[in-house]
Amino acid sequence: MLKLAQDSACCSTETVSPAVLEARGLSVSIAGRPILKDVNLTIQPRQVFGIIGPSGAGKSTLIKCFNRLIELTPRAVVSGDITFNQGSILSGALHPDDLRVRIGMLFQQPVVFPKSIYQNVIFGVRRLRMVSRRALPDVAEAALREAALWEEVKDRLTDSALKLSVGQQQRLCLARTLAMQPEVILMDEPTSALDPRSTEAIEQLMLRLKERHTIVLVTHNIGQARRVCDWLACVCVNNGVGEVAETACCDQMLDNPCCQAVVDYLKRN
Ligand SMILES: Nc1ncnc2c1ncn2[C@@H]1O[C@H](COP(=O)(O)OP(=O)(O)OP(=O)(O)O)[C@@H](O)[C@H]1O
Ligand SMILES: [Mg+2]
Repeated sequence: MLKLAQDSACCSTETVSPAVLEARGLSVSIAGRPILKDVNLTIQPRQVFGIIGPSGAGKSTLIKCFNRLIELTPRAVVSGDITFNQGSILSGALHPDDLRVRIGMLFQQPVVFPKSIYQNVIFGVRRLRMVSRRALPDVAEAALREAALWEEVKDRLTDSALKLSVGQQQRLCLARTLAMQPEVILMDEPTSALDPRSTEAIEQLMLRLKERHTIVLVTHNIGQARRVCDWLACVCVNNGVGEVAETACCDQMLDNPCCQAVVDYLKRN
């Protein structure tokens, strides 16, 4: 049995705001196989909350629960509860499309459409008619500026997005997400396909974005976790099922982990 070490004492949560996301007794199985068991997490607003842990432990599965993307996985069954701003997201009160506007997502590989840079940025806001047609160019510029891509693309907005480098494509995906003005941005290993310079650009952006957004970041890169995360949860496998072995503020987890499974994981990384 893993020794669970939740919210280590040195990382006080006494003065913090109400949680933006909370998982309570969350379990997931796929095709009858338990993947995650009894996950309890509290994510505070305007921070970078990192999720680390061995490959196959269930980090992507967990992050996909937060915007109900998990429901697109055939035969996935979710139990327990997740709240977003204190309301249950599993109760059905909020349509998944509306939830995914407020909780955006960035994947390991940038997902760009074979369209122009401009069309990519406004894709979601236009489809959901979030702003008037006339406002779209301003929305695109603001999002591209926020994603630190404007200067590189402002003179070629009508070029195909496929001509951009992978690092630029990832920032374009971020701009598309930011155009929807999400409260939370889920990022599943967003820099693992990028070179060191593009990785640094995304890390700088995370630090800037957390002033107005909450970021949930899955990363295998412990250096990256140290550079950008405020809090960490480590998901480890126990008896074949993923569990949150420990949650703590970043320095506590990386310098002085309580749980042996976390110690072992950090030693290997
Ligand atoms: N669609 C699926 N069908 C069946 N099993 C799945 C599916 N998706 C994930 N799993 C299983 O769930 C477990 C957790 O997978 P997940 O992708 O969440 O792990 P992870 O921690 O993100 O791993 P990595 O660090 O390699 O990305 C794995 O055993 C995986 O095989
Ligand atoms: Mg994964």
